[in-house]
Amino acid sequence: MALCNRQKARAVNLTSDCIQISNAFHALDELRCFEKGKKMDRVKGKVAIITGGAGGLGRAEAILLAGEGARVVVTDIDETAIEKVSVEINSRGGKCISIKHDVTSESDWSRVIQRTLSEFGKLDVLVNNAGVIFYKKIEDTSLAEWRSLMSVNLDGVFLGIRFAIETMKKTGGGSIINIASVAGLIGNPDAAAYHASKGGVRSLTKAAAIECSKAGYGYNIRVNSIYPGVIETAMADPLKQDEVKYRTALSWHPIGRFGEPEDVANGVLYLASEESKFMTGSELVIDGGWTAR
Ligand SMILES: NC(=O)c1ccc[n+]([C@@H]2O[C@H](COP(=O)([O-])OP(=O)(O)OC[C@H]3O[C@@H](n4cnc5c(N)ncnc54)[C@H](O)[C@@H]3O)[C@@H](O)[C@H]2O)c1
Repeated sequence: MALCNRQKARAVNLTSDCIQISNAFHALDELRCFEKGKKMDRVKGKVAIITGGAGGLGRAEAILLAGEGARVVVTDIDETAIEKVSVEINSRGGKCISIKHDVTSESDWSRVIQRTLSEFGKLDVLVNNAGVIFYKKIEDTSLAEWRSLMSVNLDGVFLGIRFAIETMKKTGGGSIINIASVAGLIGNPDAAAYHASKGGVRSLTKAAAIECSKAGYGYNIRVNSIYPGVIETAMADPLKQDEVKYRTALSWHPIGRFGEPEDVANGVLYLASEESKFMTGSELVIDGGWTAR
């Protein structure tokens, strides 16, 4: 059937309307997929190690990275809990193994790297997430308590960076993400060892970033750090047991609430992905406005 010019023009307009509507639905679908936690492939093909992944932030980071296409190695001293995280990820169609790992132990790091390489062949992302805290005045803190916290929060990050550099430089680079804290940026009473350790993570991150950059040893490894405010995990539980402390901590966050583990996991995903390819040595602050005052 022959169409007149006016009918042809109308048909073209209708087709273009249909394409626009279809694109809009596609964009909406993508948004819905993201909300439902379906795969968006932002770190597809990458291999990531996440320390301290038994619960809290580490678990959320592992689930999000796996959901976005990464093969994940989740480690912690709590073997039973990481096994559960691994089962959860694999049952949702992700790829994950769990390895018992004390971040203060050099031989444990060596074992974790070897197993990662034998299972997945490479390492692209390391999230130095494991950490501990205690609340004590400086004058009540023993040297043993100070050293014990430092060994996890600072020695553990140092060892992770060292082992990751050795591994990543052989395969052309990667991304190292260190979970610091607002405590690494500002002071507060009763947690000096924690503050000092996270301040150390901040400086260590910057020094490592320069060493690993093109201007340094040319390894193409990016090293960044994240500064969460109070996030709803087991680490924040002591605050909930004291009404006054809880209200005070809440008042630090102008946004009016504590963070959720996913708030930090989204920052980890960004730094792990190529979307952050121009970032190294930087501080990603996720603190509900705490340090904006
Ligand atoms: N929750 C918060 O409010 C908050 C705020 C800022 C920063 N952070 C940081 O985020 C990271 C994760 O903390 P979280 O809130 O999920 O706490 P969490 O206590 O739930 O998780 C910490 C994990 O580290 C593990 N761990 C402890 N010692 C270890 C060791 N020697 N080797 C390996 N694993 C070890 C624990 O078993 C635990 O699973 C920590 O570095 C913490 O300092 C937390």
